[in-house]
Amino acid sequence: MARSDLLLNLVEAERSGDRQRFLMVVESVIAEERKKQHHLVADRLEELISTAGSSATARYQSPPVTQDGLLLEVVPRRRLADLALSTETATLVSEVVEEQRRRDVLRTHGLEPRHRLMLVGPPGNGKTSLAEAIAAELMVPMLVASYEALISSYLGETASRLAALFEYVRSRECVLFFDEFDTIAKERADDHDTGELKRVVSSLLLGVDRLPSHVILVTASNHPEVLDRAAGRRFQVHVTLPAPTQAQIGRFVERQAARGHGFGVTPETIARNMAGASYSEVEDLLLDIRRRYVLGLPDADLKRTAQERLGRWRKQKQ
Ligand SMILES: Nc1ncnc2c1ncn2[C@@H]1O[C@H](COP(=O)(O)OP(=O)(O)O)[C@@H](O)[C@H]1O
Ligand SMILES: [Mg+2]
Repeated sequence: MARSDLLLNLVEAERSGDRQRFLMVVESVIAEERKKQHHLVADRLEELISTAGSSATARYQSPPVTQDGLLLEVVPRRRLADLALSTETATLVSEVVEEQRRRDVLRTHGLEPRHRLMLVGPPGNGKTSLAEAIAAELMVPMLVASYEALISSYLGETASRLAALFEYVRSRECVLFFDEFDTIAKERADDHDTGELKRVVSSLLLGVDRLPSHVILVTASNHPEVLDRAAGRRFQVHVTLPAPTQAQIGRFVERQAARGHGFGVTPETIARNMAGASYSEVEDLLLDIRRRYVLGLPDADLKRTAQERLGRWRKQKQ
């Protein structure tokens, strides 16, 4: 595309609020810049569109809290490539992202993109991060349902707040994130079953069913077994995010080490000491090593810092 075409396209996309198109134009600018070996500009642009989720202006204009506090807006920072995912999961999620990006093509053939995902796995292995990455890839905001605002001691009130939330979200292109989905979609045959609880679950399921496909519903749960079966069936994509194996921890540490000066001990040593940890725990420990090391300069010994921190972690886990 000629330069002036790109510029026109960019301005038009901005004016019509068409983020999809905006993203595509910026991506083609990045590709052009790379071809010309202008890597600094290309990197900077890439950074800008990945941290955005929305343009800088949109970020300042859009309130962080919407619809009476029922939804919290998160600016997505992570991209898919930043996450350690199994090949299977990465492929599955990329497919959904592609279906969303190219939904016009699907629609001309009478098809809709998939948009209801359920993420399952123990804490700290990427459920929230994956929802964020999907939003970042699609350059749409991530709206997180706030249970504090949603759940009232009057169940009837909860049902109507849920209805309001779904109503609000329908007209927006976004990732709608329900964390700990089991808290709200409890099995209907549960002990505390009352007609009211049934109504809450029904209004939840109704809301889910009626969501248009430009709202990407992502739900997360550590306890899929307590999920209402009818709720589980609604999801077109089921993703499991298990805790990493020792080898996966090793690869994760290796990747982190490649960004800086390493951690004074081998990735294998860290992996061996941290077997059974979540990605989040590994990441925290690596940051901890760096922090202690930096603050101990000029005398700090990276290897000793790492060993001390690993020892402390093992002790705390016992
Ligand atoms: N699969 C992963 N790849 C890379 N980093 C991860 C992964 N899982 C977790 N992390 C790191 O741990 C932090 C917490 O993970 P999070 O996505 O909040 O987990 P969950 O929602 O499953 O509890 C993230 O911010 C991220 O830095
Ligand atoms: Mg989470």
